[in-house]
Amino acid sequence: MAKSAKSGETYGKGAEVKARRIAAPELPYRPRDPKTYHPLIGLIGCGGITQSHLRAYRKAGYNVVALCDVDIARAEARRSEFYPSAQVYSDHRELLQRDDIEVVDIATHALVRRKQIQDSLLAGKHVLSQKPFVLDLAHGHQLADLADRKGLRLAVNQNGRWAPHFSYIRTAIAEGLIGQVLSAHLSVQWNHDWMAGTAFDSIKHVILYDFAIHWFDIVTCFMGGQRARRVFASTAHAPGQRAKPPLLAQVLIEYDGAQASLVFDGFARYGPRDTTLVTGTTGAVQSIGPNLDKQAVTLITPTGYSRPKLAGKWFHDGFHGTMAELLCSIEERRQPANNARENLESLALCFAATRSADMSKPQFPGRITRMAITH
Ligand SMILES: NC(=O)c1ccc[n+]([C@@H]2O[C@H](COP(=O)([O-])OP(=O)(O)OC[C@H]3O[C@@H](n4cnc5c(N)ncnc54)[C@H](O)[C@@H]3O)[C@@H](O)[C@H]2O)c1
Repeated sequence: MAKSAKSGETYGKGAEVKARRIAAPELPYRPRDPKTYHPLIGLIGCGGITQSHLRAYRKAGYNVVALCDVDIARAEARRSEFYPSAQVYSDHRELLQRDDIEVVDIATHALVRRKQIQDSLLAGKHVLSQKPFVLDLAHGHQLADLADRKGLRLAVNQNGRWAPHFSYIRTAIAEGLIGQVLSAHLSVQWNHDWMAGTAFDSIKHVILYDFAIHWFDIVTCFMGGQRARRVFASTAHAPGQRAKPPLLAQVLIEYDGAQASLVFDGFARYGPRDTTLVTGTTGAVQSIGPNLDKQAVTLITPTGYSRPKLAGKWFHDGFHGTMAELLCSIEERRQPANNARENLESLALCFAATRSADMSKPQFPGRITRMAITH
């Protein structure tokens, strides 16, 4: 075995890599703000997750001037915590009447969000939609088409892409540092049983749908243009779990000349772990840690291995990254990387996986076009 004296790291016999530590490449993995475009922003839906949205926007200096929630007390609470001079609304259509607002962030649940995205685009606003984007792929295409017809940008809040480790890995892949991707294996061990008795209990595939959408999305990013051929998934209830939906889920994804797997051990009360392994034709990249935020990345190329020291955390940089990318795309007159049309590929994987778990049979992504979320 090749062995690095310094780290004790070993790589298999015959591995085409020198076990030599080299300087990590500087990659643009951090969120990038627009140069001069500073639009007024409105937020529709002021629920639990919007604390992370607003914390990131305030730190980035974004100008949120309107907050809307059917439960106006929620909008008021966000106003007093983050943007004291913002106007609050209980009807999103009133917010959309404001000509000075150019960008709308929609953080309601998927069932009510579709109409709100449509209304926002018809009102001439650029939109950032929370995930999972839609429950029917056809609706997603219709919204993306509407955005194109109106010359507007429609992006999805797949904030995992800007989690520092995922962002570094996808940037390394996009810059060709590991060649063509041959495999991606992502595995998470954590305890999701906190959701017992909450609204999430009513979501049949809470792990594969609500949680794993970030992993379906990041695998789609890692794979670049490679299209998934088939998906096989299974789920199981763990003995002792209190939550209603199965907390154990796993997925195999086939590509022409590549493969991916996702493992979600959602009732791991001991030994939390979060692992990402990607191999390519000229290198590999790995990230390992006890949770989403504490991750150690190793990039392995023919010249040696490197350990980039990454700054930031998913829950901040992720939410900054998705909005920053939308704003940059508007400024630079291009599609955002997190554009809605491409996000439908990640959703197609997700829908195929949930159907596969229900049927105990492999499914073809794209053929399962919609999903029901409740039991
Ligand atoms: N990492 C992530 O990106 C992440 C994490 C958690 C949740 N989410 C997603 O964010 C979305 C919202 O999740 P949440 O946890 O904040 O839910 P939540 O239930 O806490 O919030 C939803 C909010 O929408 C409001 N609302 C409902 N109908 C409305 C309407 N017609 N107009 C305006 N407001 C309306 C509700 O009053 C509520 O305040 C979901 O799609 C969820 O999957 C994403």
